[in-house]
Amino acid sequence: MTASSIQKIEEKFKTEIEGCSNREELLRVKGSFLGKQGEITALLAQIKDMPKEERGSFGKDVNVLKGKATKLLNEAMEKFDEAQAQKNKPDLSLPGTGRQMGNLHPITQTIEEISSIFKKLGFAVETGPEIETEFYNFEALNIPAHHPARDMQDTFFIDQGHVLRTQTSGIQIRTMENQEPPIRIVAPGRVFRHDRDTTHSPVFHQIEGLMVDEEINFKHLKYILRLVMQELFGAKREVRFRPSFFPFTEPSAEMDVWSPEKNCWLEVLGCGMVDPNVFDAVGIDHNRYSGWAFGIGIERMAMLKYGINDIRLFYENDLRFLRQFV
Ligand code: DAH
Repeated sequence: MTASSIQKIEEKFKTEIEGCSNREELLRVKGSFLGKQGEITALLAQIKDMPKEERGSFGKDVNVLKGKATKLLNEAMEKFDEAQAQKNKPDLSLPGTGRQMGNLHPITQTIEEISSIFKKLGFAVETGPEIETEFYNFEALNIPAHHPARDMQDTFFIDQGHVLRTQTSGIQIRTMENQEPPIRIVAPGRVFRHDRDTTHSPVFHQIEGLMVDEEINFKHLKYILRLVMQELFGAKREVRFRPSFFPFTEPSAEMDVWSPEKNCWLEVLGCGMVDPNVFDAVGIDHNRYSGWAFGIGIERMAMLKYGINDIRLFYENDLRFLRQFV
């Protein structure tokens, strides 16, 4: 072994180190020179078998080589580590990723808005079950079995005696069974009917209202409903009442709200004075008490408020639609 072969190994080592483009390649080069079978390791192993007079200077040269190689290797390693660290640093010039905030569904927003107006007027909020007995959904509301009025609401029957409620009106009955007048409640909820087109959905929402006390009359009904609509749509919004029929109210009416966009009246709710038969069903003395009730179609209200013409948009969960209601 001569000094020139040490020189050669050193050059080879340098060339290979320079050719490395990542940490893994460096480690491979390290192995092939300084590992167990490495070329520099082999030189070190030869020292002990050399004639004494050569051993000193050869040994020194090999150790110098080993020192240089280790240093070069460490430097190259650091360079890669540094480059990697730079790569992992966040690029502060990139636009932020931000967190997408959710928002309430327009139907929920409409329910909350209407409820909060009634709450300010002293109404409490009640709820009831979506699977309802025929008694609460029909009988107690003055719609006896086989009465043609049941045909007005295409009912989903579950089993003998149970239906998916077709209206929130059953909550009136549940409330009057449990509370003494004076009663002032609104009751939002999901209702179900076998019906489907651009303005009807088999699942939709209503908010029921009920006020019962002594000397309550139709003027109170008109005043409050007009007030609420003008809170919702602005003080100049016109409303009108038309005579109608509901089995649980007498007299009954429907209320329309003027739509400037469509240039026509839109029906938004049914209402009327609570029928004495309904008071009888819940044991409230109809000679002493009177009351009025209403049922608002939430989807109708939201369609009117936001200028939406297809009810199905509410249920498709298309984020491009829903994000407009932030
Ligand atoms: N429940 C009726 C419907 O779904 C709406 C309604 C009309 C509710 C008159 C009432 C009312 O409370 O008094 O068509």
